[in-house]
Amino acid sequence: MLEILDFNLSHLSEVLKIETESFENPWTEKMFLDYPDKNTYFKVLTLNEKVLGYNVFQIVFNEAHILKIAVSQNYRRQGFASKLILDFLEFSKSLNANEVFLEVRANNINAIKFYESFNFTEIGRRPKYYGAKLDAIILRKQIQ
Ligand SMILES: CC(C)(COP(=O)(O)OP(=O)(O)OC[C@H]1O[C@@H](n2cnc3c(N)ncnc32)[C@H](O)[C@@H]1OP(=O)(O)O)[C@@H](O)C(=O)NCCC(=O)NCCS
Repeated sequence: MLEILDFNLSHLSEVLKIETESFENPWTEKMFLDYPDKNTYFKVLTLNEKVLGYNVFQIVFNEAHILKIAVSQNYRRQGFASKLILDFLEFSKSLNANEVFLEVRANNINAIKFYESFNFTEIGRRPKYYGAKLDAIILRKQIQ
């Protein structure tokens, strides 16, 4: 059974494995555990209780910010991140957010294509945000 659940400690080791295979500068265990506050949400997508992906986001007033979304390498291009983002969009709307922002590395073409498939559009860049040669692209989507 496919489920989208609030993160709990039983998910941590699988999340850390996906995190390490997905990002050059992965969050540490401490970062995952310290991050949640009242505006931060941490959702995991499980299939028969196995964690396949997760999404960390914030909703502050009418703005939602995606901090992180990742799917286990062996399960990509099967629509799992889409399920997470559709759930996130509905949840954000229910809390009266009307726009979503995120930052992505300019060289993360897969992620940019993924966000474009949900009609996110580039609204700006932070030059050299990730180092000497790597810009952050700021993407936005109006949701209501
Ligand atoms: C980006 C990421 C989350 C996408 O997860 P996914 O489960 O593979 O995405 P989906 O299967 O839901 O893809 C939905 C659509 O996005 C686009 N897309 C996703 N990955 C793509 C890729 N590698 N190349 C081109 N388009 C892609 C396609 O339009 C795809 O639809 P299609 O498969 O019918 O063509 C995943 O590649 C990942 O975990 N990357 C590493 C972590 C990361 O960079 N996260 C984003 C920055 S926070």
